[in-house]
Amino acid sequence: TCFCSFLIICGIKKFVFADPVKITVKSGQDANLTCRAAGNGKVSVVRLTRDNLKPNCVLLYRNDQIDEEQQNTQYLGRTKLHNFISTDGKVNLTLNSVTEEDNGVYECRVRTEIKSNTRRKRAALESTFINLRVGAAQSDPPGE
Ligand SMILES: *[C@@H]1O[C@H](CO)[C@@H](O)[C@H](O)[C@H]1NC(C)=O
Ligand SMILES: *[C@@H]1O[C@H](CO)[C@@H](O)[C@H](O)[C@H]1NC(C)=O
Repeated sequence: TCFCSFLIICGIKKFVFADPVKITVKSGQDANLTCRAAGNGKVSVVRLTRDNLKPNCVLLYRNDQIDEEQQNTQYLGRTKLHNFISTDGKVNLTLNSVTEEDNGVYECRVRTEIKSNTRRKRAALESTFINLRVGAAQSDPPGE
């Protein structure tokens, strides 16, 4: 399944504990998530999961495509990856028209293929936790 098919990525989860990045978005808006990625290189796997979701797969990108079969139907057609090369150590993605059902802590795991001078290929993994809070829809401008 989405969560633990990659031994190596599951292994890293044990010792990566960072404070989640908090994002607050109004219901109906798009949420932009930024995942850390290692170095300069081609992004080979992006795996976005959510803590209180079953199945927990929000987005799985591998073999140059988004694997919709693994994706929780709640997120089908609502996700967009913006870049497949990490140039600034980031991979950006968008969740379209969020609702309160999308609340939760997301974990974004990115695998990057690092170019090196030797012929040996290297892959690097980064994990980012993102706490998405969806507020009520914007009907009136907030009291300012
Ligand atoms: C997300 O990014 C898109 C363009 O990249 C922008 O139009 C949109 O306003 C952003 N959404 C939020 C909630 O910042
Ligand atoms: C990803 O988004 C961040 C924050 O909006 C921005 O600073 C960065 O340039 C973006 N990177 C790419 C590769 O789109």
